[in-house]
Amino acid sequence: MIDNKIVLTGIKPTGTPHFGNYVGALKPLVQMSQDHKTFVFIADLHALNIMHNPDDVRHHSYEIAAILVALGLNLENAVLFRQSDIDAVYKLNTFLMNVTPKGLMNRAHSYKAAMDKNTAAGNDIDSGVNMGLYTYPVLMAADILLYGADIVPVGADQKQHVEFARDIAGYFNNIYGETFKLPEPMIGADTGIIPGLDGRKMSKSYDNVIPLFASEKDLKKGIMRIITDSKTPEEPKDPDTSTIVALYRHFATDAEFADFRARFAAPGMGYGAAKTELFEKINSVLSPMRAIYDQLMTDTSKLDEILASGAERATAVAEKTISRVRKKMLG
Ligand code: ADP
Ligand code: TRP
Repeated sequence: MIDNKIVLTGIKPTGTPHFGNYVGALKPLVQMSQDHKTFVFIADLHALNIMHNPDDVRHHSYEIAAILVALGLNLENAVLFRQSDIDAVYKLNTFLMNVTPKGLMNRAHSYKAAMDKNTAAGNDIDSGVNMGLYTYPVLMAADILLYGADIVPVGADQKQHVEFARDIAGYFNNIYGETFKLPEPMIGADTGIIPGLDGRKMSKSYDNVIPLFASEKDLKKGIMRIITDSKTPEEPKDPDTSTIVALYRHFATDAEFADFRARFAAPGMGYGAAKTELFEKINSVLSPMRAIYDQLMTDTSKLDEILASGAERATAVAEKTISRVRKKMLG
C-alpha cells in the first residue's frame, strides 16, 4: 500500500528512549527502512519549547541516532538527520505562519491540554505556554511538507498534528496553486502499550521506564523491579495482564513466546524465575546491538558523519522545495 511513497517521521530528543518507544516506534521504523525510502530526523527544534539546556538536547539527539543505527536502520533507504541542520525548515516555518489560521493552533490538543491544566490550577490560561509550544504544529507541517512526505508514521497522540500539516498544505495550495502534496498519518499497527515498572504505561513522564540500552546490570535491576502481585509459584497467573509476559513477546519468536506464556500461566513458575528468563531473553537479543550503541556513544565522530551525510541528502530535497515556495510567495 505504501510502495513508492515517501515516508517521513521525526523523533523528539526529550529523554533516553525506553522499551515502550522501542516497541511502539523505533522497531517498526527500522523495519520500514528495510524496503522504503524514509526520512528520519531528530526533532531537536521541537524539543526547545521544553528543553533549555543545550547539552541535554545534544546528548539525547546522539542517543536517538545511536539507537537507530544500532538497531539496524537501513542507511541507504533512510536519510537520518537532525532537524536543526536543515536551513530550509526555519524558512518554510516562517512562510507557513502566514497561511496558518490562529484558530487552528487554538484547537491543538497539546495547547488545549496546557490551557486545561492552567485552568484547573487556577493560573492564567496561557501561563507557561511559549510560542514554541503554541506554533509547534506549524514547524511540524514545515518538516513534513519540505520533503514531500506522503506517509507519516506517528503515535496516536500525533495524528492531529499530521492532519494540521495536511490542512496547512491545503490553505497554501488554495492561495498559491498546487504546491504541496497532502500527507497522511499512519498510526502503527497496534503493538499494544508496554507497561512500565509500576504497571502504568511506560513513559518518561511517569518515571517508570527501562532505558532500551541500559547496561546489563541496570537492565537486570530494572526487570527485577517490575511490580507483580504476591502470588506464589504454585498459584495460577493471568499472562494477559502481566508486564513480564507483555515485554517477553517483543523479543521472542512466536513459538518461544507461546511456550513462555504457557509455563507462566501454569503452576510452577514464580515471578522471580519469570523475570530471570525475561532478562536473559532480552539481554541475548539486545547485547550485540548494545555493543554497537556503546561504541557509537563513546566516540560520536561516526554519528557526526552519518548525520552530516543525512543533512546533505535532506538539504538537496529541501532546497528545491524552498525555492519553489519562495518564488510563489515573493515572486
Ligand atoms: P513518553 O511517553 O516516554 O514521553 P513519547 O510520547 O515521546 O514517550 O513516545 C514516542 C513514541 O513511542 C510514540 O510514537 C509512542 O507511540 C511510543 N511509545 C511511548 N511509550 C510507549 C509504550 N509504553 N508502549 C508502546 N509505545 C509507546
Ligand atoms: N511531534 C512529534 C512527537 O512529539 C515529533 C515530530 C516533529 C514529528 N516533527 C515531525 C513526527 C514530523 C512526524 C513528522 O513525537
